[in-house]
Amino acid sequence: MKYKHAVITTIYHSLAGMGMSAFSKEEIAKSIETPPKQEMGDYAFPCFMLAKVLRKTPSQIAQELSVTIHHEYIDRVKALGPYLNVFLDKEKTGEDLVTHVLSQKEKFGSLSIGSGQHVSIDLSSPNIAKPFSMGHLRSTVIGNALSNIMEKCGFVPVKINHLGDWGTQFGKLITAYKMWGTEEKVKAEPIKELLALYVRFHEEAEKTPKLEDEGRAWFKRLEDGDAVALSLWKWFRDESLKEFERIYQLMGMEFDSFNGESFYNDKMEHVVELLEEKKLLTESDGAMVVSLEEFGYPPCLIKKSDGATLYATRDLAAALYRKSTYDFAKALYVVGGEQSLHFKQVFHVLKKMGYHWSAEMHHIPFGMMLKDGKKMSTRKGKIVLLEEVLQEAIKLAAQNIEARNPNLADKEEVAKMVGVGAVIFHDLKNYRLNDVEFSLEDMLTFEGETGPYVQYTYARACSILRKGEISTGHACSYEAFKDDKAWAVLSLLMKFEEVMNSAYQHFDPSQIAKYIMDLAQAFNKYYGSVRILDEDEQQQSRLQLVQAVTIVLKEGLRLLGIKAPERM
Ligand code: ARG
Repeated sequence: MKYKHAVITTIYHSLAGMGMSAFSKEEIAKSIETPPKQEMGDYAFPCFMLAKVLRKTPSQIAQELSVTIHHEYIDRVKALGPYLNVFLDKEKTGEDLVTHVLSQKEKFGSLSIGSGQHVSIDLSSPNIAKPFSMGHLRSTVIGNALSNIMEKCGFVPVKINHLGDWGTQFGKLITAYKMWGTEEKVKAEPIKELLALYVRFHEEAEKTPKLEDEGRAWFKRLEDGDAVALSLWKWFRDESLKEFERIYQLMGMEFDSFNGESFYNDKMEHVVELLEEKKLLTESDGAMVVSLEEFGYPPCLIKKSDGATLYATRDLAAALYRKSTYDFAKALYVVGGEQSLHFKQVFHVLKKMGYHWSAEMHHIPFGMMLKDGKKMSTRKGKIVLLEEVLQEAIKLAAQNIEARNPNLADKEEVAKMVGVGAVIFHDLKNYRLNDVEFSLEDMLTFEGETGPYVQYTYARACSILRKGEISTGHACSYEAFKDDKAWAVLSLLMKFEEVMNSAYQHFDPSQIAKYIMDLAQAFNKYYGSVRILDEDEQQQSRLQLVQAVTIVLKEGLRLLGIKAPERM
């Protein structure tokens, strides 16, 4: 951003010299563009909007500007029709940048926007007794990447796994277990068996509706602290968590808290009292609700007629708890788009309660994982088990390594990094709101726009650095940076901070994914066109560029939650 900033400031001063001091740096920053072709320079400033005030044609203005602009970072400027095109001094800025990256290392690209404030991130949050779905995979990888991005922007993230471990479904599950379940079966394959019981409950309840009442009654007992209900629930929870932990470990995901819905069981009465105190509760068909009519939303259900609490009640309790525990500046909820209304309701109830901080709560929705164009659902047992997908990816990565580099040390460890990386990148390269068609094949391709491609580029760059030695501190020539392919790499490195900032502003990890993909491609073109290790006076600058690339690729992958093996 430093170089772009210098360009903006210089244009600003030139404009002021032309009597245009009212035109602010922000306005210049907003209108400045990247030219479509590298030979057209590094930045283009369109002069249309100045024409009216200056009573000159845009190309006249571009022409006039072009003779007044001078800066040590700028090699030359050129008026191209209505545009002022700026060419950076490649040697000077390139040297400056590469030296900066090498000294900053993985800190390069960090921003201080958050100044140490907390941000709570509600992510992953699978449901107990159900398989970990592809939807939960999306929440996990998007949430984890956002957490890393926020951290790099100066926030202190708190990752909370809001487990779905409470609610009427547990009453149903207990009913089903009491009727058809056995301990041995649950012990052998907990989630599979619990899911089967849950599916069976729904099938049987269609024929025998009174099962639903039974389920509700069991949930009531659970909420009231009945020992039998509690111990069964706890057992289901423990067994499920063990399976989830395996997946998290495989993916290298960690959380700061596993306080799920059940954690708020004893904190909901307080919410109800507060709502009563603030006179926000009204009755509707025996249930207690908060009207949201003024916002155009349906009422938020707080308590059912039988006294049972709901998903929204637990989210309200969770919000209050998190605010008082973490004093967050922002609260993110990385949850599928189908829950948009729920979060609008929860946030607006908090607003009605007078909590101004509700303005800093954001639902970060994402699209669905589709199978043949349809949503994958757990209810009917039509799901793809994530653990199987991960294992399959790792197996494929292992075969690939075996074929290409059979003597590699830590083959298993690397296969894990690559397989898991493939799955994560496949998700994050898409803008989160887009639906993703689930395809094992796409996910596991190690060519094209994939995680393994970026990892492989990184490993290749590392291998060059093992062969050539960097000696910093000696003056060396940076003339090689004038080369088009080297400059393409350098101009991408220059954009890292800007991409970070934008990924943060839009809560959008896909911008980082696209960025490192572009960087990897530009690097491979560069690598294919020069002999980096040739011992001439340019060798040092080339090696330094390679090292800068490894730093940024590795850091970019880390932000996405992907490991970067040095050999593969
Ligand atoms: N367990 C929920 C589900 O799978 C997601 C929970 C999201 N977080 C929240 N605070 N409501 O649909």
